[in-house]
Amino acid sequence: MTMMSLNTMLVVAHYCRDNVEWDAEQEKEALAAVTKNSTQKMNAEDKEKFQNDADQFWDSFYSVHQNRFFKDRHWLFTEFTELATPPGTDVQKTRSIFELGCGVGNTILPILKYSQEPNLKVYGCDFSARAIEILRENKEYDPKRCEVFVMDATVEDWSVPFAEDSLDIIVLIFVLSAIEPTKMNRVAANCFRYLRPGGLVLFRDYGRYDMAQLRFKSGKCLEDNLYVRGDGTMVYFFTQEEVRDLFCKAGFIEEQSVVDRRLQVNRGRMLKMYRVWIQTKLRKPLNEETK
Ligand SMILES: C[S@@+](CC[C@H](N)C(=O)[O-])C[C@H]1O[C@@H](n2cnc3c(N)ncnc32)[C@H](O)[C@@H]1O
Repeated sequence: MTMMSLNTMLVVAHYCRDNVEWDAEQEKEALAAVTKNSTQKMNAEDKEKFQNDADQFWDSFYSVHQNRFFKDRHWLFTEFTELATPPGTDVQKTRSIFELGCGVGNTILPILKYSQEPNLKVYGCDFSARAIEILRENKEYDPKRCEVFVMDATVEDWSVPFAEDSLDIIVLIFVLSAIEPTKMNRVAANCFRYLRPGGLVLFRDYGRYDMAQLRFKSGKCLEDNLYVRGDGTMVYFFTQEEVRDLFCKAGFIEEQSVVDRRLQVNRGRMLKMYRVWIQTKLRKPLNEETK
């Protein structure tokens, strides 16, 4: 092995540890990094451009990366067992799942692949027309069991191929973080509107002080905890309380909320980094519970 390839291996070598606890010192360091990169906010004109043209930035993202960027999310079924066919279920039953911001199908395609339910219907929307086009061209996309369409999830009135109070599950995986905070409550309200009573929102997204947040350079912050990446896409970093507040105000009951914190050590560069994700399950109450 040459010295060059050995060095390359050392740089990329890393390991993860699950559910690491943070001490006060780490919290302080993270807060200092965020204060540093967010004190100077982006000017109003640039901010408006990133917010108003968000769909075009995602279109360009998918034109460049096609379906190679996000990995299929196989952890889905361990974190969200509801997405798999629950043991003992009548597999003939009709169930419906809707993913907002489905991109090129890294969540939808594994659901379709592993489902044992012939009557499962999976819907997906994304405001990137390019993403939907790439997904429809995928040979694993089965139009008999799946329907995807272009829609901006932040509009007041959704134009969707299913009825109000009808869906069993809505999946929000790394999508709400791409939406400007003032529009998030509209998304939560529409999720409530289209889920059946007893239906579930499954949410996983970036948490406050995730390493991606700490690494932003000054000048990339649109507002507190909302940044723009080099490719023009936006990303917000949530706390558990914010997610809870947003959905409970829309009428949901929080059933589970977890901060998934993982230590990643890059031995080559002697760097310790933390991934922080928030994972939450929210249920629309049964009619009797709201009376
Ligand atoms: C980080 S990607 C996640 C994609 C997918 N959920 C997955 O798990 O691979 C975020 C996606 O949300 C979409 N998105 C962002 N804002 C949206 C909006 N307002 N309406 C619909 N889709 C949106 C983007 O186009 C992108 O495909």
